Amino acid sequence: MKHLFTLLFLSTLCFTSCKENVTTPEPVANKRGIITQNAMVVSARKEASQIGSDILKMGGNAFDAMMATEMALAVTYPYAGNLGGGGFLVYRLADGTKGALDYREKAPLAATKNMYLDEDGEVIKNKSTIGSMAVGIPGTIAGIFEAQKRFGKLEVATILKPVIELAKNGYHITEKQEKRIASYDSLFKAVNGKTILYNNSLKAGDKISNKELASTLQRISDYGRDEFYKGETAKKLVKYFQAKGSIITMEDLAKYEAKWRDPVSFQYDNLTVTSMSPPSSGGICLNQIMTMIEPFNLKEYGHNSLKTIQVMVEAEKRAYADRGYYLGDPDFVEIPLETLTSDVYLQERMQNFSFKSPTPIDSISHGKIEGYESDETTHYSIVDSFGNAIAVTTTINGGYGSLLYVDELGFFLNNEMDDFSSKPGTPNYYGLIGAEANSIAPEKRMLSSMTPTILEKDGEFYMTLGTPGGSTIITSVLQTILNVHEFELTMQEAVSAPRFHNQWLPDEIRMEPNSFDRKLVDDLTALGYHVNESRSPIIGIVNGILMLEDGTLEGGADHRGDDTAVGF
Ligand code: GLY
Repeated sequence: MKHLFTLLFLSTLCFTSCKENVTTPEPVANKRGIITQNAMVVSARKEASQIGSDILKMGGNAFDAMMATEMALAVTYPYAGNLGGGGFLVYRLADGTKGALDYREKAPLAATKNMYLDEDGEVIKNKSTIGSMAVGIPGTIAGIFEAQKRFGKLEVATILKPVIELAKNGYHITEKQEKRIASYDSLFKAVNGKTILYNNSLKAGDKISNKELASTLQRISDYGRDEFYKGETAKKLVKYFQAKGSIITMEDLAKYEAKWRDPVSFQYDNLTVTSMSPPSSGGICLNQIMTMIEPFNLKEYGHNSLKTIQVMVEAEKRAYADRGYYLGDPDFVEIPLETLTSDVYLQERMQNFSFKSPTPIDSISHGKIEGYESDETTHYSIVDSFGNAIAVTTTINGGYGSLLYVDELGFFLNNEMDDFSSKPGTPNYYGLIGAEANSIAPEKRMLSSMTPTILEKDGEFYMTLGTPGGSTIITSVLQTILNVHEFELTMQEAVSAPRFHNQWLPDEIRMEPNSFDRKLVDDLTALGYHVNESRSPIIGIVNGILMLEDGTLEGGADHRGDDTAVGF
């Protein structure tokens, strides 16, 4: 019991304070990001972007670089980079073909709708967020192999070689990483019952290697994706699961498949926006919000002006109200996609909007929606020299996922089961409230907010972008697109600009602290909006690549993290 209380205390401490290790970037004016002529990778770590870029330079394409970058993030950025999680890919090939790959985690075969409820039907705190019952069947290895098999050009062994070397030889801990690891240290010990590789003895500048992960990656390189789902790695993983009391079996791993999906695609002015479809809510919500704001002249209102923020916030409220009620895994629930994204429906939704005062939240919808989610996902964007572009968002959900670290394999396991609605109407760890559409069932995928997005302008590739940030992902992607398209910021300025967020419930406009004009905040408050600048120091960590008019690429790497653009 004492152990449980310690866990509860530590987890509360961590989920409220661990985000304080990042700082809002200085405003950037008239500044372009890195410019390259041919190709670029923008990711959460310099080493991962470099390895991805090297793969592109040796003749690989975006899908080869995806495999290298994703695995290099698992080595250098275990906070979110992973083998034990899942993600989504949106792509646009050089010939204009677009598509999406879903490698989201799935619920185990033995999962049940009420698995996180006690005998009184109440949600058992922490069961879906910490430890073995929180883990969904990982999809990452299936995802990167599926994408590379269909579109890649290089041998897997060639792609993974530099990543394995990186894991063996080590990389340097950054200041942000040192602080993050230190703030999770007690929690790691409590959950794993011992000190793990990532512990508070690590200081910025230290070199850290991960020999176990190097061995795991070597086996995957030698034997392919089935090594993770059916081979020695699978056996070691299931043995670990059994020791930890998990319900995940060899059959669960063996049955896992990534799925090709039709992405969501829609027009905004002369832009074609292509983004992730369910089981992510990202594309549909982005579609809804952008369609609702399109009739308003944001350019005339001005960047982050009172009127612009009002229009965006009111459209966001309405989209997020629909999200929790209607969206879930399309293999399990009927989603009224056409209606939700139709002009008629969305015009109707904005009919009661007025600049005079906020639309009361209870007059918008009976659908229920979440509080707020974690910032602990990661996004990378890649453009290759063949003209292919990809946007990939990947996660283990919370920072370091379930906090379970498999020593023998060298990686953390996700706590993605918490993205299901454990009990309709009851918030999960991050305040999420869901409905029947996102209830738990065996082999079902939990609803996500990840929004990897690619834009075309007048039919040509224009931008690839995305971000971590849970439910704030959608609005961070939205603002970055509008910053470039409506307000003519450079890619780097668009990424660095201060961000705000509204998601219907809670009834507040969340703003990055000390980033917005005081008069603006006062004006919003006077109109009746509840501005909250203390929720967390940052909103999202956006990474993007913009095609400039002369055909060169501009990287936007978000300095809210250690994110870096590398290319040639
Ligand atoms: N785990 C966060 C998301 O998928 O939205």
